[in-house]
Amino acid sequence: MLLLAAAFLVAFVLLLYMVSPLISPKPLALPGAHVVVTGGSSGIGKCIAIECYKQGAFITLVARNEDKLLQAKKEIEKHSINDKQVVLCISVDVSQDYSQVENVIKQAQEKLGPVDMLVNCAGMSLSGKFEDLEVSTFERLMSVNYLGSVYPSRAVITTMKERRVGRIVFVSSQAGQLGLFGFTAYSSSKFAIRGLAEALQMEVKPYNVYVTVAYPPDTDTPGFAEENKTKPLETRLISETVSVCKPEQVAKQIVKDAIQGNFNSSIGSDGYMLSSLTCGMAPVTSITEGLQQSRFRTSLGKSEGLMAPGSNQLGQVVAPPVTQDAGPPSRGPHSTHPRPGAPERHHCSTLVFLNCRPTWHGNPQWLPSTTEVVTMGLFRTIALFYLGSFDSIVRRCMMQRAKSEVADKTA
Ligand SMILES: NC(=O)c1ccc[n+]([C@@H]2O[C@H](COP(=O)([O-])OP(=O)(O)OC[C@H]3O[C@@H](n4cnc5c(N)ncnc54)[C@H](OP(=O)(O)O)[C@@H]3O)[C@@H](O)[C@H]2O)c1
Repeated sequence: MLLLAAAFLVAFVLLLYMVSPLISPKPLALPGAHVVVTGGSSGIGKCIAIECYKQGAFITLVARNEDKLLQAKKEIEKHSINDKQVVLCISVDVSQDYSQVENVIKQAQEKLGPVDMLVNCAGMSLSGKFEDLEVSTFERLMSVNYLGSVYPSRAVITTMKERRVGRIVFVSSQAGQLGLFGFTAYSSSKFAIRGLAEALQMEVKPYNVYVTVAYPPDTDTPGFAEENKTKPLETRLISETVSVCKPEQVAKQIVKDAIQGNFNSSIGSDGYMLSSLTCGMAPVTSITEGLQQSRFRTSLGKSEGLMAPGSNQLGQVVAPPVTQDAGPPSRGPHSTHPRPGAPERHHCSTLVFLNCRPTWHGNPQWLPSTTEVVTMGLFRTIALFYLGSFDSIVRRCMMQRAKSEVADKTA
């Protein structure tokens, strides 16, 4: 009897331990909060600023062009909900000089108080085939999209940790979840953001600071219009397989996720699917999210076998379509042999593509078997267990450090 009670206790503690990374943070209150938005003079960044302002926040807009900043300020101020609200404009290049970025953030904090939320939205896209892109393009995109997110975050993090409050938002892209034709420079700069965000989240979570990575789809902004001018044909065609979102819709979702402290912020059903497929060992901030990801990955595990060579993960075939032949049906999900009755593999939109449930002669061999369902679920569960243990290591070290600091002071 005693043994059984002990076993139950151990199981309960283990369960708590596993579920600990899934505990949602307290939502951030935006009324009166200071929100800094880099890239806030245009497109998604401007809409994020408007969304926060509508909810009572004080805003600092950061971008280079002063005229655009002042124009955006006027537009944002139309949405005030009380006469105390302020929109501050700062003209700086976030990608060039860390000390300059640090200085302007300091000035903003002196005027509007410590930063409660930082949205790293300044960014740009340049596309072209790998061999056609200048080496300087790789350097430029890494500098603006990646370092341009590192510098402002580095400038606010110490205060956020001290105050035990804060949100840092990184605006990546769906091209930061999957590599796409023409985006060798852009995708890699956006993938880098996720690595930064995952590592940073593990460091700052014990201080009640939460990180959000947003993965917007194509969005109707001046930046997107500019990018379209130089897109290679393939990139343009891939882009056309999905619809273009409105920046207001994207901004609303990002702000909502940041307030909740959700690590992942995706938009629409394509975004949800991509995020679930590419979640890896990324942090999760609610039990529902963790469960959904395990279930989603499990049920789609086999659908990846549908991909034709040369097709990207959005289902758009770039190379000529694969012809159906009467060759022997293959067993493995990753075989490139087409099967009789398999769906057309080109110009198939993401959701149609993933809804394909092919069976060969009524044999559901492409559907996941029970073993696979269990294995995938198990893998995600083990991943959560590891995340829990990493979090507890971080917390333990933090407590130890705090103890030795107290000991040092009293000595
Ligand atoms: N639109 C899309 O389809 C889409 C999709 C996925 C992800 N995204 C990402 O979302 C973010 C915003 O995109 P958007 O389409 O809204 O772009 P946008 O309309 O071109 O706005 C970009 C903003 O960033 C600022 N900026 C650019 N470089 C900067 C620098 N070095 N220093 C300071 N500010 C800088 C711009 O102002 P100044 O030029 O005056 O500095 C502007 O305020 C970007 O990170 C982009 O990669 C966009």
